[in-house]
This record gives sequence, C-alpha cells and structure tokens, in this order.
Amino acid sequence: MQTYKAAVIGAGIIAKIHMRTLHENEYTKLAAVADIDEERARELGEAYGAKPYEDYRRMVSEERPDIVVITLPHFLHKEAAIWCAEQGCHVLLEKPMAMDAAECADINAAGERCGVVIFVGHMQHYFPAVVKAKQIVESGSLGKLVMINDRRHHFYYPEERPAWFLDRARSGGGVVRNLGSHSIDKIQWLTGSPVTKVKADVSYYGDRGDVEGSGLLYLQTASGVPAVVSLCGYRNVSVNETELLFTGGQLKLDGQQSLWIGGAGRGYEPVELGELPEPFAAQWSDMLLAVCGGSGRLASGVYGQSVAAAVDAAYRSHETGCEQLV
Ligand SMILES: NC(=O)c1ccc[n+]([C@@H]2O[C@H](COP(=O)([O-])OP(=O)(O)OC[C@H]3O[C@@H](n4cnc5c(N)ncnc54)[C@H](O)[C@@H]3O)[C@@H](O)[C@H]2O)c1
Repeated sequence: MQTYKAAVIGAGIIAKIHMRTLHENEYTKLAAVADIDEERARELGEAYGAKPYEDYRRMVSEERPDIVVITLPHFLHKEAAIWCAEQGCHVLLEKPMAMDAAECADINAAGERCGVVIFVGHMQHYFPAVVKAKQIVESGSLGKLVMINDRRHHFYYPEERPAWFLDRARSGGGVVRNLGSHSIDKIQWLTGSPVTKVKADVSYYGDRGDVEGSGLLYLQTASGVPAVVSLCGYRNVSVNETELLFTGGQLKLDGQQSLWIGGAGRGYEPVELGELPEPFAAQWSDMLLAVCGGSGRLASGVYGQSVAAAVDAAYRSHETGCEQLV
C-alpha cells in the first residue's frame, strides 16, 4: 500500500485519538492539524510532529492532503466536508455526519461529484464486543432475534462537555442527536437493517441550553426487529447497556467492552472476545482500504445519512405525537 498524506481538522477532545492513530499508522504521513484555537493546534501538532494551522482552508491549500479527518462541531461538518471534497480530499467525518439528513445528502452529493470517498466515524463497527455480538446474531445460534433494548444514560451538562453540544444551532440536538446516533448505528449495524419507523418522546427539562435531556424511542427495522432506545442526560447513574433477546437466549453488551450470553435457567456468562485491533486503528485501516477502492466495516456517507434520518424522525415524532417513517 502507498503512503497517504493526512490532516486533521479540529484539535479538540476526539482529535487527540485520531492524531495518535494516524501518527502510529505505517501507511500514513500525518502532515498537519488545524483549529481556530491556535494553542490547541500547536499542542497537538507538537505532540505528533504535524504542522499546526489556525485556518483549515489554508492548511488544505498548502498541504494538499489525500485524506482529511473532520472532528469539528456538528454545524461545521457540512461546509468543511464539502469544501474539502471540492479540493479533492477523501473525508473521514466524525459522527453524527451532520446536523440532519438533508445536510448529509448535500455532503454525499459533493462526494459523488468530486469522486472522493466520504466515510463517517460510526465507531460501533469496531468495538470488539459489538463485533462479536454481530457474529453471534449472524450465526443464528441463539435462534431468531426478536427485540433489542438499548439504554444510554449519561450526565449531559456543561460541566461535562464543550458548550456547543448544548446549543441546538451548533449541535443539531442533545442526547438524541449525539448519543442516539450511536444507539441507532448499533441497532442498524447489529441487525444489518435500516430503521424504517420511529415513535419518540423527548424532554427538555433543566439547565442545559436548548437541547433535549432525554428521549425514549421505539424503532422498527426493515428486517422486522423492533428496538427500544432509552437516552437520558439528567443527573442519573450512568448506564450503557444493550440487550438482544432471541428465541433461544440473549446477549448483553455492557458498554463497548464486554459481552454476555445467557438463557433461561443459566443467567449470564461472559463471552470471550479474543484479540482484535484497537477500534480507532481498525477504523483508520478501513479508511485507507476505502481510499484504495476496497470496502471494510466503515460506514459510508449514505449509511451516515440513514442514521441522521432516523434521528430526524425521532424529533418529528415528538413534535407531531405520531409515528414517523424514516
Ligand atoms: N466517535 C466518538 O465516540 C466521539 C466521541 C466524542 C466526540 N465525537 C464527535 O467528534 C466531533 C468533535 O467532538 P469533540 O468532542 O472533539 O469536540 P471539541 O469541541 O472538543 O472539538 C472541536 C474542535 O473544533 C475546533 N473548531 C471550531 N470551529 C473551528 C473552525 N472553524 N476551524 C477549525 N477548528 C474549529 C474547536 O476549537 C475545537 O477544538 C463531533 O462530531 C462529536 O460528536 C465522537
């Protein structure tokens, strides 16, 4: 494989992991990093031998990277992804792909027009426990998958995250847009089937800007497997758990780290996960594969758009009080 020149746009929390991943990959030359916060770009650039820039357009024009990783606040995903695609860069875009499905469609159209790969960082595809759960679902060893219960409860306040996450105009929504896109991705990925219908109730209590603090979603997938997703960002105990109920037993994902298998009369036992590559490293390897014309587990822009469309449907359902088609 040839070596690809890469640059990172946005030097915030998640960029640190991407920078380390790109730096450690033998087929990648990590050339530069840009952030409007000059200090952040300089610190991260120094740590990984990448040239810091304040202006990502200047960085791309001067460095001409083959691939950019975009880790910006959600409201900037569309303009940055389209502009980079127009410069001929392949794009790995952090999740959620954009503010809504319409923005995702514009990004995908730009990718098509410019002949570049647009992929989305839906990490569920790389967590060892989720990968193993998908293998068990596909093996049919537990019988027919009849339903999924997913719970993600996580303190979602300004003390815990950058302010833009709590401003709808910059984030596109709260726990449903942000944490919900992980849940919807997980359900679509595990079932190999898109969400087709959504009924949802959302709440806006509390002191966290204008984004929602909870969402309870009832989802239907094209394969007929229903799922309930409970997202709660109030002052509760943290939970990140997904149960898959089959006719012949069940699986439980405890976060992304551990997987349990169980059945009537025997409780839960841990599942051996084996050695799998670190998730961000595996994601980046798939990005390089995609740029070479191959395909891996990476989520395409079209897939990223399907996740955004299911989130959009959840908000519409709350507003109308009715089930919505995705
Ligand atoms: N895959 C995951 O599990 C995961 C985890 C956390 C965040 N994310 C996603 O990653 C993205 C970034 O999230 P984060 O937590 O790193 O946010 P962050 O606020 O820490 O980082 C965003 C960075 O973008 C910079 N920025 C803002 N405007 C800019 C501009 N015009 N040009 C250049 N830089 C600019 C900010 O200064 C900041 O440093 C979001 O899409 C988020 O949802 C994904």
